[in-house]
Amino acid sequence: MARISASVFTSHVPAIGAAIDLGKTHEPYWQPLFKGFEPSKQWMKDNRPDVIFLVYNDHATAFSLDLIPTFAIGTAAEFNPADEGWGPRPVPKVIGHPELASHIAQSVIQDDFDLTIVNRMDVDHGLTVPLSLMCGQPDAWPCPVIPFAVNVVQYPVPSGRRCFNLGRAIRKAVESFDQDLNVQIWGTGGMSHQLQGARAGLINREWDNAWLDKMINDPEAAAATPHIDYVREAGSEGIELVMWLIARGAMADVPAFGAPEGAPVGPKPRLAHRFYHVPASNTAVGHAILENQG
Ligand code: DHB
Ligand code: FE
Repeated sequence: MARISASVFTSHVPAIGAAIDLGKTHEPYWQPLFKGFEPSKQWMKDNRPDVIFLVYNDHATAFSLDLIPTFAIGTAAEFNPADEGWGPRPVPKVIGHPELASHIAQSVIQDDFDLTIVNRMDVDHGLTVPLSLMCGQPDAWPCPVIPFAVNVVQYPVPSGRRCFNLGRAIRKAVESFDQDLNVQIWGTGGMSHQLQGARAGLINREWDNAWLDKMINDPEAAAATPHIDYVREAGSEGIELVMWLIARGAMADVPAFGAPEGAPVGPKPRLAHRFYHVPASNTAVGHAILENQG
């Protein structure tokens, strides 16, 4: 049986990728940010998974206004880094896991979550920047990665509640896969930021940290956060945070999808690392690592 061992949460910013690729991580502006990910890179070395299920958003790169899937699962054997206007990032190509991805698609679609199946797509900074933050600059990423793209760019976007329940169904899917695999689930994007309009540059440290507390300790309450709260408090792009709830909903202390009312849940996950930093381009960077116990 496959199992989810841990969840990783981190913001993404294209400029973080550029700082890594151009060798600027020790510059005074960037140094505090990358310092916060030093323990995470060590943790990745110590807790190498067999597969990463990576929840992220595409930024009108693979998809455009021509086609807007709410939830899209990458079932391909490999995914190339996208050209977002300055050429593809010089990072390894992403090796997929078509067998597990197809199994998860089958399971969650039968549990009434409609996914778009993607057999070919390039992956943008939403996926490659979290990998770089957690893994550094290796010749190859440490394991296969299943890209899972969520529409948080073009309205209407899915609710936090829907994302949380989808995470529960993904856990059920992983646990019904018949190979012995150690799977990590990553939720990425966020925290507060707004890239356009009168409030461009908005950062809300207090709200971000209160939401992070809730996401870690009371995920049901975090999942109940209304859509308007993200936009009002964390800015238009703060809505990327709903993706973290997919990863959180897949952890062992949340009732498994379809489990009878009152069925026992697993223990609270262990917080292995938590970090928050401003500034990084226009975005507040939040980060946490949760380990399932036992
Ligand atoms: C920035 C943040 C994002 O989430 C993004 O997709 C693009 C840019 C930024 O802060 O610059
Ligand atoms: Fe983004």
